[in-house]
Amino acid sequence: MQDKVIAVSGGVSGLGAEVSARLAAEGARVVIGDLNAAQVEAKAARIGTAPGLAFGVVCDITRPEQCEALAQAAIEKFGQLDGMVNCAGISKPDDSISLAPADWARMVDVQLNGPFYFAQACAKRMLERGGAIVFITSTNAEAAFPRRAAYCSAKAGVAMLTKVLAIEWAEKSIRVNAVGPAYSATEMTIRNIAAGNVSEAQIKKRIPLGRLAQPADVADAVSFLLSDKASFITGHSLYVDGGWLAYGYF
Ligand SMILES: NC(=O)c1ccc[n+]([C@@H]2O[C@H](COP(=O)([O-])OP(=O)(O)OC[C@H]3O[C@@H](n4cnc5c(N)ncnc54)[C@H](O)[C@@H]3O)[C@@H](O)[C@H]2O)c1
Repeated sequence: MQDKVIAVSGGVSGLGAEVSARLAAEGARVVIGDLNAAQVEAKAARIGTAPGLAFGVVCDITRPEQCEALAQAAIEKFGQLDGMVNCAGISKPDDSISLAPADWARMVDVQLNGPFYFAQACAKRMLERGGAIVFITSTNAEAAFPRRAAYCSAKAGVAMLTKVLAIEWAEKSIRVNAVGPAYSATEMTIRNIAAGNVSEAQIKKRIPLGRLAQPADVADAVSFLLSDKASFITGHSLYVDGGWLAYGYF
């Protein structure tokens, strides 16, 4: 990652925070975009290995013009953009029979439209030098959960988006991949457990390796896919799931 410039959405919390810190520790210059205006600048300041090596921008990925502004800020500050990771996301389980159209639309906006806007804005700045894009999807791109119609549909959409962008942008040397975690130990999962949507015991029982994904497990996969070690890998979804998707027994 040394001296690469990477834009990370959702970098204030959870997987995005871990990914940002990891990339910075590996020598990257990191631009964090997050909806959380109160924390995004301070978060970026904490991960920079030296002053000025990381900065934060308020960015709602559902707003194309804010994605453009973030990508442009990376160019103006560092002169190049080599990669992006979309970690921004929300979770809101709801019965499909009563799911409000506005809640459906918001989920699709954050989890499918936003990743496209963010990738498009970043890829425009990678056309000369190439680059690497990683979307955070989920095991829910493949596995259906009840009460997650919009979430699962959007994640499956991003898995397909990964393939389409990969083959379309390959001629520009822009690789596009996805990392799909199982339940991970982040604020999102803590909120889901607290809301009674799932229990930690259920998760551990369902995952063959017997534990939640740690943010570091996800950062390992993201760092690999961004790096030159993955230079012939594109259009791929890498599931970091402790065997969740493989498991088909009782
Ligand atoms: N936690 C899990 O178990 C799990 C499992 C699989 C996939 N994922 C996916 O990983 C991603 C990150 O999840 P997490 O657990 O780190 O969540 P989190 O809630 O801990 O962090 C999400 C971050 O995204 C930001 N964000 C939300 N909406 C945004 C928007 N419109 N624009 C910009 N930033 C926005 C939030 O402010 C927050 O900083 C999500 O896409 C989620 O669906 C999470």
